[in-house]
Amino acid sequence: MAEKLRIGIIGSGGIAQGCHMKGYASIPDECEIVATCDVNEATAKAAAEKFNVPTTYTDYKEMIAKEKLDAVSVATPNKFHKDPTVYALLNGVHVLCEKPLGMNADECREMCAAARESGKILQVGLQSRFMGHSTWLKDYIAAGNVGDVYFARAQALRRAGVPGWGVFINKELQGGGPLIDIGVHILDLTLFLMGYPKPVAAFGKTWDTLGKDPTRWNAWGDYDRDKFTVEDFAVGMIKFDNGAVISLESSFMQNAPDVWETQLYGTKAGLQLKPGAENGLKIYSDVNKQLLDISPSNIPNVESAHTAEVQAFVRAIVAGDPSPVPGENGLILNAIFDAIYKSSVTGNEEKVDLTY
Ligand SMILES: NC(=O)c1ccc[n+]([C@@H]2O[C@H](COP(=O)([O-])OP(=O)(O)OC[C@H]3O[C@@H](n4cnc5c(N)ncnc54)[C@H](O)[C@@H]3O)[C@@H](O)[C@H]2O)c1
Repeated sequence: MAEKLRIGIIGSGGIAQGCHMKGYASIPDECEIVATCDVNEATAKAAAEKFNVPTTYTDYKEMIAKEKLDAVSVATPNKFHKDPTVYALLNGVHVLCEKPLGMNADECREMCAAARESGKILQVGLQSRFMGHSTWLKDYIAAGNVGDVYFARAQALRRAGVPGWGVFINKELQGGGPLIDIGVHILDLTLFLMGYPKPVAAFGKTWDTLGKDPTRWNAWGDYDRDKFTVEDFAVGMIKFDNGAVISLESSFMQNAPDVWETQLYGTKAGLQLKPGAENGLKIYSDVNKQLLDISPSNIPNVESAHTAEVQAFVRAIVAGDPSPVPGENGLILNAIFDAIYKSSVTGNEEKVDLTY
């Protein structure tokens, strides 16, 4: 049997313990978590104890120097994605980095360049693509059933869902609010299904009134309104070089229902996908002058999209395959967000800059 991959964890908090470490632990014959690292020693130790990991660190450089790692998960707050990712890649270690890849496109450029220079895998933690509906739909669209997708409406909307824990309301540490935090998932899924066309420009607007309002109820617990420095709601219209347009909406707080879905308008059929929802896919078509609505009912799902993402990472490394979710996709997403945030300030449509 081939030797197991040696895995290190950088940032051993919520998503690392809840998803990444579970994913690695699900394939014990293929990989082994040999060390955890967290600037908070107690967190590194708690994560290690939970998964029987022998060694802990508070400095990722020391972990990489001592542990002969094949790969790391980077699951730190957004501001601390770039440095460990670039360091690991340039030291010959494959990286699965949580989303969004960077605080902005410039950071992603550096990360993608490090991956290119080192020849190591840089995978972005965007798990929605690994859900059963997503992989099935990707093939369905690729087979020409939907025609050309010329418009999509992507929505990641929470009515009263401000994450009060961690640093999700801190622009300095996260780079932004719902747009960069959850809009990233629904936009990635939409682009994945559309074959990742090249964005050229975006117009957008963000607001923060409700998120800062101390009189509002929040379903996810109370939080310090004075520390709320991100947007509570963002919208964007993104134009692509193939003529397609995506309308993107994302919120932590708003006076409208929760929505988590994407709708794709194709020349042959339309799609409505609610990722993760039971019977979450509808296909709208027109056959023999009849409107035909299809609800697929037995598309197999994966038990956990996070686990599937981690398994894909490990197996791509072993097989020498390209990244299952390339860093360049993360760059596209951050470049779109940069343009939307800039447009909200200038009031103009802004170019999406993909150069690197
Ligand atoms: N894919 C998803 O669905 C999903 C869900 C939640 C969070 N995330 C992403 O995961 C990342 C972490 O989020 P979380 O909810 O786990 O946050 P968290 O606060 O629970 O965990 C982050 C950990 O990183 C540690 N840390 C900070 N700087 C560090 C450094 N330089 N070196 C080592 N450790 C460091 C912190 O001490 C903390 O324990 C964020 O980028 C977030 O966007 C993704």
